[in-house]
Amino acid sequence: MRKILLIGIGPGGPNYLTLQAVEALNRATVFFIPDKGDEKAELRLAREQICERFITAPGYRFVTIDIPKREAQPQDYRATVDDWHARIADRFAQAMTEQLTDGGCGAFLVWGDPSLYDSTIRILDRLRLRGMEIDYEVIPGITAVQALTARHGIALNQIGEPVIVSTGRKLAAAGRWSGETMVVMLDGEETFAKIDAEGAEIFWGANLGMDDEVLVAGKLPEIAPKIQRIRRQVRAAKGWVMDIYLLRKAEDTP
Ligand SMILES: C[S@@+](CC[C@H](N)C(=O)[O-])C[C@H]1O[C@@H](n2cnc3c(N)ncnc32)[C@H](O)[C@@H]1O
Repeated sequence: MRKILLIGIGPGGPNYLTLQAVEALNRATVFFIPDKGDEKAELRLAREQICERFITAPGYRFVTIDIPKREAQPQDYRATVDDWHARIADRFAQAMTEQLTDGGCGAFLVWGDPSLYDSTIRILDRLRLRGMEIDYEVIPGITAVQALTARHGIALNQIGEPVIVSTGRKLAAAGRWSGETMVVMLDGEETFAKIDAEGAEIFWGANLGMDDEVLVAGKLPEIAPKIQRIRRQVRAAKGWVMDIYLLRKAEDTP
């Protein structure tokens, strides 16, 4: 039986790492690093630096897993993702079989928390369904959602109300904001500036926890051009940007 630790490392600098994550880092000897090709070198480096800084025992190593490309604009999103995950599972299985001995302990350092918009858990489940003997353990991490609310100093929910966590793709498809408190992730298209969001207030953050972190808050749509300008500046400066935002009714502001 191979043991795999899915270690949530938080959404930015090493200060987001939990004590439980540090303890888990010291249990693994092989660190699998999925590489999508466009993987930002800085993010890969961040993972390696976390290991260097927090692992006390020598002898651990990194194993890169090349991740196949996914179709960019699929007709059938779910079927395309399903097929893509099957192909990733093949690569995971090969890497684990070749690089981790039976009884060994490997780990994936998962950005943020493994439960949120991350497929590592689903892919390991696939391997178990195929009959591979893997025992996995999830070590929770701070999510980008928590980093966003903490840095803006706001509560995630309004009193007694739910919160929707969604994606830029879903919000763009709806074309309008529903009026509920909503956190939007994975939005590469500046959807906040393209939808009908009258009456909304936005709390936006980019590259949270990193040296170039930026925060902007204000009423939509007035503030949207400012966020777009800053977002483009951040992206131009380092070649990529990761951003997240919360929308809520402006009148709910205390
Ligand atoms: C594939 S999801 C991974 C989420 C991660 N598992 C988590 O728990 O936060 C990537 C998205 O998370 C958000 N994100 C992750 N890290 C971030 C950061 N440091 N600053 C802003 N947004 C971030 C962005 O919306 C990005 O598109």
